[in-house]
This record gives sequence, C-alpha cells and structure tokens, in this order.
Amino acid sequence: MIEGKRVRLRSFELSDLDEIMKHWNNMELRNFLGSADRGPVARNEEEEWIRGTWKQRQERKAFTFAIETMADNKLIGGAGLFNIDWTSRSAMVGVSIYNPEYWGKGYGQESMNLIVGFAFRTLNLDRVELDVFDFNKRAQKCYLKVGFKEVGRRRKARFIDGKYHDDIIMDILKDEWLTRSKNQ
Ligand SMILES: CC(C)(COP(=O)(O)OP(=O)(O)OC[C@H]1O[C@@H](n2cnc3c(N)ncnc32)[C@H](O)[C@@H]1OP(=O)(O)O)[C@@H](O)C(=O)NCCC(=O)NCCS
Repeated sequence: MIEGKRVRLRSFELSDLDEIMKHWNNMELRNFLGSADRGPVARNEEEEWIRGTWKQRQERKAFTFAIETMADNKLIGGAGLFNIDWTSRSAMVGVSIYNPEYWGKGYGQESMNLIVGFAFRTLNLDRVELDVFDFNKRAQKCYLKVGFKEVGRRRKARFIDGKYHDDIIMDILKDEWLTRSKNQ
C-alpha cells in the first residue's frame, strides 16, 4: 500500500465494481476526464478495465491504483501513471476522485502527491506530465498546489459538452518535487 494521512493507494479489486458503477456513468465526471464521448459504459467493460490494470502493472506499462480513505476503507477514486518512457524517465499521470461528495476536500492533492512520490522515489522517474481542460479550475488549482507548472496549451483541442476547449499541459520534475516535499 502507498499510504498518506487520509488516503492510501492500492490495486483495484473486482469487489470495487459496485462503487465504480455508482459514479462512472456520471457525465459531469466524464466531461472532466474527456471521456463522455464514449457514452455510458457497462459493468463488464469496467471489469475488463480492472483486469487490464493488473496486466499493465505486471508488464510495467502503467501503474493504476484505487484511492481509498484510511478512515473507513472507502473507494473514492483512481490514480495512474501511464505512457511511461523508461529511456527518458517520463510519464503521464492522472488522478480522479469518482465520488463528487469527496471533491474539493484535499483528497486530490494528497492522492496526487502519493502517486508522484511513487513515480519519483520508487520508479526513479524524472518528469511527470498531465493534461487538464481549461474549464476544470478545481483540478488546475489542485495540481498547482502539488507543484505542477503550466508548460503549454493545445488550443481548442477538445470538443466537450457543446464547445471547444483548450487542453492545458502541466508538468513537474523530480528535483522540484523533492525540494517541495522536504520543505513541507
Ligand atoms: C480534480 C480532482 C482530482 C481534484 O481533487 P480534489 O480533492 O477535488 O481537489 P483538492 O481539494 O485537493 O484541491 C482543489 C483546490 O481547488 C479549490 N477549488 C475547488 N473548487 C474550485 C473551483 N471551482 N475553482 C477554483 N478552485 C476550486 C479548492 O478549494 C482547493 O484549494 P485549497 O486547497 O486551497 O482549498 C477532483 O476534483 C476530481 O477528480 N474531479 C473530477 C474528475 C476530474 O476533474 N479529474 C481530473 C481531470 S484532469
């Protein structure tokens, strides 16, 4: 387990499916993730996705973890490293709190810090990048507070809920994150 103060990261289990299905077809959530255009998904597809996360971890292609509260062992989201480039020691990261009751309460910052810490301190990666849409102000603030910097913008890159939106690129380097975490 990768443990913080209020959340831990652990492997997804098939027993998480009930909780995932309560939230995954919420199109507000899926608009933030840019995957509303896949339409509502079936439980069997999510089961396949969970099995895929195990295989990708074994093959070291991606590391996808469930986010669980320490207080009551409740699944509240997922976090993952993917598109890992072992030569350049770089990866993409994504964090998502599925359950809206848990938005804006600091769980995203803690989960992001845990997975970025795993990327830098355990996998010895050197750079982690993410994408966030221009309308997702909560996510942008969360990532800035973890230490990510905006490094670019794909203008009008995504059509979401009736409008084109910019896709903002943010990244953080290992040295920057280590300095911040020492000072916190
Ligand atoms: C994005 C996400 C991971 C952030 O996690 P979180 O736990 O909600 O965010 P946090 O509470 O850690 O940090 C958000 C910060 O933005 C602030 N905030 C909340 N709503 C905001 C808004 N509408 N505009 C600006 N800031 C906002 C919070 O107050 C907090 O700042 P603070 O620590 O100074 O109080 C989570 O909200 C989420 O998963 N949302 C749905 C899916 C999603 O957007 N995924 C990310 C795709 S890039």
